[in-house]
Amino acid sequence: MAKMTAKDYMDREDKFGAHNYHPLPVVLEKGKGVHVWDTDGKKYFDFLASYSAVNQGHCHPKIVKAMTKQSEKLALTSRAFYNNVLGEWEEYITKYFGYDKVLPMNSGAEADETAIKLCRKWAYKVKKVPQNEAKIIVCNGNFHGRTITIISLSSDPDAFKDYGPFTPGFEKIEYNDIEALKKAVQDPTVAGMLVEPIQAEAGVYVPEDGYLKTAADLCKKHNVLFMADEVQTGLARTGKMLACDYEDVRPDILILGKAISGGMFPVSAVLADDKIMLTILPGEHGSTYGGNPIAAKVSIAALEVIKNEKLCENSMKMGQIFRDEMSSIKSEMIENVRGKGLLNAIVIKPKNGKTAWDVCLALKENGLLAKPTHDHIIRFTPPLVINEKQMREAIEIIKKTFEDFQ
Ligand SMILES: Cc1ncc(COP(=O)(O)O)c(C=O)c1O
Repeated sequence: MAKMTAKDYMDREDKFGAHNYHPLPVVLEKGKGVHVWDTDGKKYFDFLASYSAVNQGHCHPKIVKAMTKQSEKLALTSRAFYNNVLGEWEEYITKYFGYDKVLPMNSGAEADETAIKLCRKWAYKVKKVPQNEAKIIVCNGNFHGRTITIISLSSDPDAFKDYGPFTPGFEKIEYNDIEALKKAVQDPTVAGMLVEPIQAEAGVYVPEDGYLKTAADLCKKHNVLFMADEVQTGLARTGKMLACDYEDVRPDILILGKAISGGMFPVSAVLADDKIMLTILPGEHGSTYGGNPIAAKVSIAALEVIKNEKLCENSMKMGQIFRDEMSSIKSEMIENVRGKGLLNAIVIKPKNGKTAWDVCLALKENGLLAKPTHDHIIRFTPPLVINEKQMREAIEIIKKTFEDFQ
């Protein structure tokens, strides 16, 4: 049989797969560290890192080992029974982040759904909000996933259009707007606030310094749970273990996903203290795969790599180099460079009909993969294991690409 071409692979996905994504035209077959290779053997820098799931780099040997070892022994028990590794992960992750309890799920969206349920449960059991009246404050521009409840919070028509009716019980306010929050928390039926410390999907919107701290303090004052969605910002991505650490904020409910497994396996987690977490009783929430033995072992390995390889420090240092170099590029197409650690974005001003998509296509040709978010923004989020030599090489590719558009 003739070797399949890249076009064959793309056509096959197009024919048999739903069209709910618009991928860059590249077919990948191998990954290692900060690099991926396509089916023709061409090597690229991966500057998306699977939307920040691959912070530890592709196929990290320690995580692969944990995965293969456990998958040969016991993969799934469901939570109908105990298994001998779930508790090990629960102890590890709760001590790692300093919470009493963890609730394991699989995807980021599920973890956000879990946090919302937990917050409502706490509202009725502890805060004594009248039944079915609990409200959760969310921010315009948010991205928390794709389920019906979560898109009910969205202000992006691409996310919610034609999917109604929506889940009630959410109060939408502007992001980075303390005055709006001050008003919203006056309502005694407000149970929680769900917020991303940096709005990554929206285009890496970094709120003003002090926003998270003031928001968390306001929530505390009004007996409202502060819930941080660190699915993308967490786990060293922004140069600290959590983006909330920049302002010494300890969320009442912490939501993690993506890099919690280093891209090896779908794992997500919700962390909280007993007074919140124990409001959910046996049989009231769960997931068949949540907390499975492979997830437990993979996640311990992934979290160990973040600490052992000092990924927070590296993310902080490489991120600074990246932003400094990007800000020095003289191009009419670059409107703005922003971000923290290795969560960065360049806002693109279209030129001669060329958009962020065209820049990403040219970057691909030059050996670097990145993806536009919202037409005019390119997010740059390489694996956090990137070293300075690799970063400088990648920067040269980006500089050359923008020069070619002049
Ligand atoms: C902040 C945030 N929350 C939740 C999610 C959803 O995660 P998942 O795609 O694993 O459901 C994402 C995904 O990009 C995200 O960035």
